Amino acid sequence: MTHSIRTQVAIVGAGPAGLLLGQLLHKAGIDAVMVERQSPDYVLGRIRAGVLEQVTMDLLDEAGVGARMHRDGLVHSGFDMLFAGQRHRVDLAALTGGQNVMVYGQTEVTRDLMDARTQAGLPSYYEAQDVQVLDFDTDHPRVWFQKDGESYEIACDFIAGCDGFHGICRASVPRAAIKEFEKVYPFGWLGVLSDTPPVHHELIYVNSERGFALCSQRSATRSRYYLQVPMTDTLDQWSDDAFWAELRLRLDPQARADLVTGASIEKSIAPLRSFVTEPMRFGRLFLAGDAAHIVPPTGAKGLNLAASDVKYLSQALQDFYLERSQAGIEAYSGRCLRRIWRAERFSWWFTTLMHQFPTDTAIDARLKEAELDYLMHSQAGLRSIAENYIGLPLNFGSPAASTPAF
Ligand code: APR
Ligand code: PHB
Repeated sequence: MTHSIRTQVAIVGAGPAGLLLGQLLHKAGIDAVMVERQSPDYVLGRIRAGVLEQVTMDLLDEAGVGARMHRDGLVHSGFDMLFAGQRHRVDLAALTGGQNVMVYGQTEVTRDLMDARTQAGLPSYYEAQDVQVLDFDTDHPRVWFQKDGESYEIACDFIAGCDGFHGICRASVPRAAIKEFEKVYPFGWLGVLSDTPPVHHELIYVNSERGFALCSQRSATRSRYYLQVPMTDTLDQWSDDAFWAELRLRLDPQARADLVTGASIEKSIAPLRSFVTEPMRFGRLFLAGDAAHIVPPTGAKGLNLAASDVKYLSQALQDFYLERSQAGIEAYSGRCLRRIWRAERFSWWFTTLMHQFPTDTAIDARLKEAELDYLMHSQAGLRSIAENYIGLPLNFGSPAASTPAF
């Protein structure tokens, strides 16, 4: 027997993109059913970046889930850049007319969104198997899946593919209809989470002769650190002691003295990738978040881009249901991609500037140091970093004449 379900929007994937979309649609009075492959605990177990732009904070408020973020999140008005043994502060607030970022882990954002969905009693199917998206090139798309040995079919008006980089939505699009752009970096990030006070009250991005490092945090008592490592490294090569010893070597004397070490509570190695899919809509299937694009984590744009996609998508669906207009749907892909490409550019540039590449020679290291020296001593350079770091607005000017129509 197949259980038949009818809704307006079927959301595939309950990561931050799918959950935020569900909440924004609920606020707008649009029905949605969510289908997720994993269990809620599995989804909450993923540790990812934790810097929210103002646009993302505003969206979480609009979705009605901002209270805990405002209470427990850490407002940061700047960060440090360390190179050639010297630390320099990028004063985000002073450089951008008072804008800040919020340090609040993606796990917490996900938990707040999940709790809100449960409280509102909105339908979600976790641990769904063999999820398939069907007929999205017609006016009657369907999502099919199995759960606990039974079959389910959701008949809907639209499918939102929020199922991440390894999901099935992008993979279900005919190859001839999609263009993918990809760059894989020749190194990874080894991350450690520890219940130790952060080495500094703000983040420190480090360009050192031994490779990139990042000192980040989750709270006044929980730190997150990263080291650039070759992708061939494995976790058993990195004991906690080895991690702290290498981090020390990449820091300046002050940070070295301030660093408090302790047992890791999570340790992982993640690859770095730049990836974009064009377009992001195929008939009645929309891609959003990591399903459509990946940025390397330098600059922490991943979650913020997922949030802006979802904002454009919820606006498009509101145009359709409340105004009977197709305009937002037609514009969705182009609006998303314009903001995505700018964030891709910043993330790629910041990654390249701060990391050592295996092909770099002595001159590359000097050129990067010279660029950093220029940037840190130029108001124009500092402002350029700051305005990209705090995030571009959702609507930034009219489209350039050459903007392709996706
Ligand atoms: N069917 C249903 N759900 C699926 C399927 C599938 N076939 N495949 C994957 N999923 C689920 C995953 O289990 C995951 O929970 O889709 C969800 C996708 O969530 P994320 O990978 O977190 O992607 P997204 O919601 O777009 O969030 C983007 O995550 O990687 C970071 O930097 C990125 O912070 C950004 C954020
Ligand atoms: C993190 O805290 O995990 C983090 C912060 C900033 C980044 C990347 C990751 O640029």
